[in-house]
Amino acid sequence: MRVGVLTGGGDCPGLNAVIRGVVRKGAKEYGMEFVGFRDGWRGPLDNHTCPLGVPQVRGILPRGGTILGSSRTNPFSVEGGVEQILDNLGSNGCDALITIGGEDTLGVATRLAELGVNIVGVPKTIDNDLSGTDFTFGFDTAVNIAMEAIDRLHTTAESHHRVLVVEVMGRHAGWIALHCGLAGGANIILIPERPFDIERVCAQVESRFATHYSPIIVVAEGAEPAAGTMSLTSGDTDEFGHVRLGGIGDALAKGIERRTGKEARAVVLGHIQRGGTPTAFDRWLATRFGLHAAQAVHERDFATMVALRGTEIVRVPLAEGTGELKTVRPELYDEAEVLFG
Ligand code: F6P
Repeated sequence: MRVGVLTGGGDCPGLNAVIRGVVRKGAKEYGMEFVGFRDGWRGPLDNHTCPLGVPQVRGILPRGGTILGSSRTNPFSVEGGVEQILDNLGSNGCDALITIGGEDTLGVATRLAELGVNIVGVPKTIDNDLSGTDFTFGFDTAVNIAMEAIDRLHTTAESHHRVLVVEVMGRHAGWIALHCGLAGGANIILIPERPFDIERVCAQVESRFATHYSPIIVVAEGAEPAAGTMSLTSGDTDEFGHVRLGGIGDALAKGIERRTGKEARAVVLGHIQRGGTPTAFDRWLATRFGLHAAQAVHERDFATMVALRGTEIVRVPLAEGTGELKTVRPELYDEAEVLFG
């Protein structure tokens, strides 16, 4: 059996561990051959391939990024894109395709599976917002990087009696903010699921200073002020129509400074959260996802996605992984609020 593999969307620590798991299991147990498609859906669209076999996956387990490259290409927004993909899968002799990606990449995979392409999906995103799986790999690494940053920011905030606002990734879901905020002892956590009131944030800042400590605020990039309280600028959009975010941290720091008179600075962690070596948990999860994806292909269980439920790897329909975003439940945020201020 000849299997294509691609990684799409924002990169994420653990992608190489998945590729290695797929190739090692597929080659050794099922005698599979592989074709690497470069740069997400751009690869099968432009027939941009690379050799992929056991020699290519040696030593890649701890490496961040993806040896296949990635992009946010949407073949459905390219004229004749789907036909090109079908032709190129055929000319490369691919019987199946393993697609490692998030909401957008797997959304395309779902539509192609409906058109008859043999696809198995592997969920990926540092945002942890894909439904159908308890966790996605990359999330744990991002949380640990952000936690370490918060630990460091506490000491410099104290030295200068400043407010430090840490902006983390999380477009629609506040999972990274909530987890790193709790782990790092942040004094306020702001997430997209709960529009914030700047006056309330300022009151919590003042109460923190009143106890002679300097506040650390963690804000997810997609967090929004409650209607009519603060205005924000928005940026360009990508091929899937997502606005490029960034800027809430700075806006918040300026708003706090203006209202409280306390010095406030913003730190944007940005792509640092996505780079570098994965944690042990992410290597474990990504490797197991890869092993199970190869098995699903071997069993011809297509239009499925591998997923984590508890400690088991299961298969769910591809559409289930992308159908609805997994956002932070209100009770989880409420639970954390006792620590604010
Ligand atoms: O989708 C994951 C994510 O990390 C989002 O949180 C963020 O908005 C986006 O990627 C930014 O990615 P890029 O800069 O690559 O477009």
